[in-house]
Amino acid sequence: MNLKPLQFGNVTIEFPVVLAPMAGYTDAAMRTLCLEHGAGAVYTELTSAEGIRRDSENTFAVLNTSASEHPIAGHIFGRDPEAMVEAAKYVEQTGQFDWIDLNCGCPVKKVVSRGAGAALLKDLPTLGKIISKVRNAVSLPVSVKTRIGFNNDFSDHLEIARVVEESGADMIAVHARLAKNFHGGDPDWEKLGEMKQALKIPILGNGGVQCLEDAERMVEVSGVDGVMIGRGAIGNPWVFDSIRRGPLEAGDTQAVPPASSRLQEKRDLMAEHLKRLVELNESKQQVAGFPKKYTPEEAACIQFRTHIPYYVKGLFDKKRLLMKLATLMSVNSILEEVDLLVEKNMRDE
Ligand SMILES: Cc1cc2nc3c(=O)[nH]c(=O)nc-3n(C[C@H](O)[C@H](O)[C@H](O)COP(=O)(O)O)c2cc1C
Repeated sequence: MNLKPLQFGNVTIEFPVVLAPMAGYTDAAMRTLCLEHGAGAVYTELTSAEGIRRDSENTFAVLNTSASEHPIAGHIFGRDPEAMVEAAKYVEQTGQFDWIDLNCGCPVKKVVSRGAGAALLKDLPTLGKIISKVRNAVSLPVSVKTRIGFNNDFSDHLEIARVVEESGADMIAVHARLAKNFHGGDPDWEKLGEMKQALKIPILGNGGVQCLEDAERMVEVSGVDGVMIGRGAIGNPWVFDSIRRGPLEAGDTQAVPPASSRLQEKRDLMAEHLKRLVELNESKQQVAGFPKKYTPEEAACIQFRTHIPYYVKGLFDKKRLLMKLATLMSVNSILEEVDLLVEKNMRDE
């Protein structure tokens, strides 16, 4: 794809096709797999500024990263500018992050009812204050992840772009849907284009990109400087490889291995994902005060449940595995079921 390295502050994203922050998914296990498969950068899951202020071990655990994860943004949310400043300073002093990202787009009730996330799009003066205070308090670059608006009654995408830039953000990532639409409906990539025209800072476009062709079309329609992928990367880190590689030449059989080896590769990646989740839970549980309701392996199996439907999408006879999921509490029991499914699909090829 024809994208230039994206630069803001002292951060360079060589290949600006990045993994979106997704609470409940983009922990270190998923992030490292996506980076190894070509993602240009990653973000942590949503991290509460108030949780950091309260010294919550659960919140600190969200910021767990491994040394290989770069470039990476610490992604924080909150409404109180002082709490956001404290959280940003904490993220900076961990020394693990390349930049700080401020969430101004999350539409879930728990966040919006506290005036945070997308609720800031109804209150641009507070949004501006948060950005400028955080910008002045840290030396890491600061970005904003937002939407094209809250609903049609409040500020539009161009006002949001102006406030974000004038308040000192170094980069903006925009999900091209209104907050009231959550993750449904068609994204409006033309509005991304209007924001790109209005902005001097770089812009990542987000919403509705599942494959190379989508990424190419988004860039063509909007001219954004890079692309952010959310759901298209769940159970599919290969999406980054394929966008990096670009369109296949006719007869390029090497680039597309046969279905049987793709199934085997999928199975091996699921095993690796699970292994990383177990390791992640082991390291979380070493921290004093971290709740230990489940063993690290059980916790990993529970977390992996949300990924499995994406990994097995399109496979024949996946229903048995999906119905048994809630009872599978060991890595071996999950992999046995996955092996059965893979064998069945290889036979029926
Ligand atoms: C399960 C899930 C969790 C999400 N969590 C976050 C989050 O923590 N912070 C955030 O800014 N956006 C979050 N998002 C929104 C995504 O980052 C992204 O903007 C959205 O999914 C649209 O991109 P897509 O069409 O490529 O999925 C989440 C989305 C999903 C589906």
